Amino acid sequence: MKRLVFKSPVFQSAIAGVADGHFCFKAAVAGAGLVTIGGVSLDEDSLHATREIIARGRKEFYFEIDEREEFLKENIRVAKKGGSPVAVNVRVCSFKGLLEAGKIVEACGADIFELNAHCRQPEITSRGGGQELLKNPNKLKDWLLAIREEIQIPVSVKIRANVGNTLKIVKMLSEIPVDIIHIDAMVPGEPRADLQLLREVCKSVDMFVIGNNSVTDGISAYRMLNTGVNAVSVARAIMASPSAISKIIDELKQILGERLRPIVLHPDSG
Ligand SMILES: Cc1cc2nc3c(=O)[nH]c(=O)nc-3n(C[C@H](O)[C@H](O)[C@H](O)COP(=O)(O)O)c2cc1C
Repeated sequence: MKRLVFKSPVFQSAIAGVADGHFCFKAAVAGAGLVTIGGVSLDEDSLHATREIIARGRKEFYFEIDEREEFLKENIRVAKKGGSPVAVNVRVCSFKGLLEAGKIVEACGADIFELNAHCRQPEITSRGGGQELLKNPNKLKDWLLAIREEIQIPVSVKIRANVGNTLKIVKMLSEIPVDIIHIDAMVPGEPRADLQLLREVCKSVDMFVIGNNSVTDGISAYRMLNTGVNAVSVARAIMASPSAISKIIDELKQILGERLRPIVLHPDSG
């Protein structure tokens, strides 16, 4: 199992159409422990969905199916210059697409393959991808068992809280096991994260967990880390300027002092 060192427990979360290699580079230089390219759609079905999403005015990354490698190679290369591990957040709607995407993401040099079981755009969910996977845990399990066999790099799964039974899903993910569970702990209609849910997740499984939602400054990062998650991730607060992640990290440093240290995935591996 690959050992990865993250220089801080504040990560940059996926932002479709925004988080390209240059964005990730800036976030990494500003101190993000992990940066995430995408989300990107990597099979025929999800690319079709992406064309429809763009047609109704949403920002997305788009390339033709035979341009996937070129896009990923270049953006991963640029992101890596920032000095932090690089994940790719992947939307696929088919099993064949999943396995192909895994191989491509790994071959293009990513450090982590992140399966997007989080997207709620109807063009994706109606084709069985994104958070629709959470409503079909058996399919999600089969997909993850297969991708764990297919690739060597760590597998993360990004899920949305309270779509399906979150605690049951988390337990299932821990049994596969995947390497990282990344949870958007959103509370529908409220500008806050469900910290109690994150606490319960951390109590119920011995896993590397990334908490996400509504981290905007040092104190909100601190409160989320206090639930027991290994790291927190940030999207909207740094969307306009990825370098703004440094302010969150500096504030967290003022709260934690020496306790703010690099964190390690699979510390016992070579
Ligand atoms: C414009 C936009 C695009 C996003 N695209 C993705 C995506 O492609 N994949 C994904 O897993 N999450 C995506 N997210 C969700 C964020 O990564 C994050 O989970 C969510 O915004 C909550 O975190 P925050 O409060 O720090 O923004 C997106 C969010 C925004 C605002």
